[in-house]
Amino acid sequence: MRFGRIATVLAVVAAMTASACGGSSSSSGSSSGGGAKKIALLLPESKTARYESKDRPLFEAKVKSLCSDCQVLYSNANQDAAAQQSQADAALTNGANVLVLDAVDGKAAAAIAQKAKQQKVPVVSYDRLIQNANGVDVYISFDNHKVGQLQGQALLQGLASKPDPTIVMINGSPTDANAAQFKAGAHSVLDGKVKIAKEYDTPDWSPDQAQNEAQQALTALGNKVDGVYAANDGTAGGAIAAMKAAGIKAPFPPVTGQDAELAGIQRVVVGEQYMTVYKAIKPEAEGAAELAVSLAQGKGLPSGMAKSKQNNGTTDVPSELLTPVAVTKQNVNDTVVKDGFWPKDQICTAQYADACKAAGL
Ligand code: BGC
Repeated sequence: MRFGRIATVLAVVAAMTASACGGSSSSSGSSSGGGAKKIALLLPESKTARYESKDRPLFEAKVKSLCSDCQVLYSNANQDAAAQQSQADAALTNGANVLVLDAVDGKAAAAIAQKAKQQKVPVVSYDRLIQNANGVDVYISFDNHKVGQLQGQALLQGLASKPDPTIVMINGSPTDANAAQFKAGAHSVLDGKVKIAKEYDTPDWSPDQAQNEAQQALTALGNKVDGVYAANDGTAGGAIAAMKAAGIKAPFPPVTGQDAELAGIQRVVVGEQYMTVYKAIKPEAEGAAELAVSLAQGKGLPSGMAKSKQNNGTTDVPSELLTPVAVTKQNVNDTVVKDGFWPKDQICTAQYADACKAAGL
């Protein structure tokens, strides 16, 4: 095991080095001039599939296409806010010309933004808005209140045949400002229309923790749960595992999700998960890359981008908000497949072939 851990550490170091070098032979990493710049991408965790499978590669590719001798300094905090603080410090010490920060803890990240500002390094708040801070130059994300509304509306649709339905709510991490918006959006639709018997905020967005929460709720309610609001696909997977372990059989009560991650889409196709929310990560990651390169090169915000504002508790931050889309079995084809987010053959592996056929895929 010891050897295994050393091997893992070596692999991580090798990956970080490769990423920091970015394959750019001519890069000097100099902070002057309009060319070679260092762009730090700081992502929050890796249990949720999107970050390593979509955000990171799409961002890195776009930076490369916009600025062939720019370097991306990549780090992932694995849900540890203190680790993210150190990673941001390391990026600044390393001469980063811009920070693109997806904060583990929106409030704690104010210190990162402040420090960057002191060093005149611009900050792009990526996907999650850094709270109560000056020094945030721009924010790019989705309309997160709308995400919660779409989840709530779909859940009501899935519960349409149930009189006085009882649901359980499994929200996201209490330190993620987005989670509060998803939750508020969902409540704005669900309150007064369903009985919310149990509700949890899930530390670290942990799927295992979500499974424990769902298990507790099912036990307390004697399995009498008509639907589950789960804030993303990871927590939905946890809730569904708990339902299966509690002996609940298909047809499953409707469960919501978010991210259109591959496992989530497959559960939607096979009827285990009622819906997910598709957020097109390509325009988000590529937009962030455009903002970052422009800011790093001292050109300010690109014209035509970030024309709206979001208040972070201290100031109005120029913002670019993209539109989320609800996905059920009926529109998998017209959304994630049509958009190239997941090719049909990746969704419809042998195990899902029949379900895919039935869903018209
Ligand atoms: C993101 C979601 C993601 C969640 C867990 C949120 O801030 O917007 O897409 O599922 O964090 O990482």
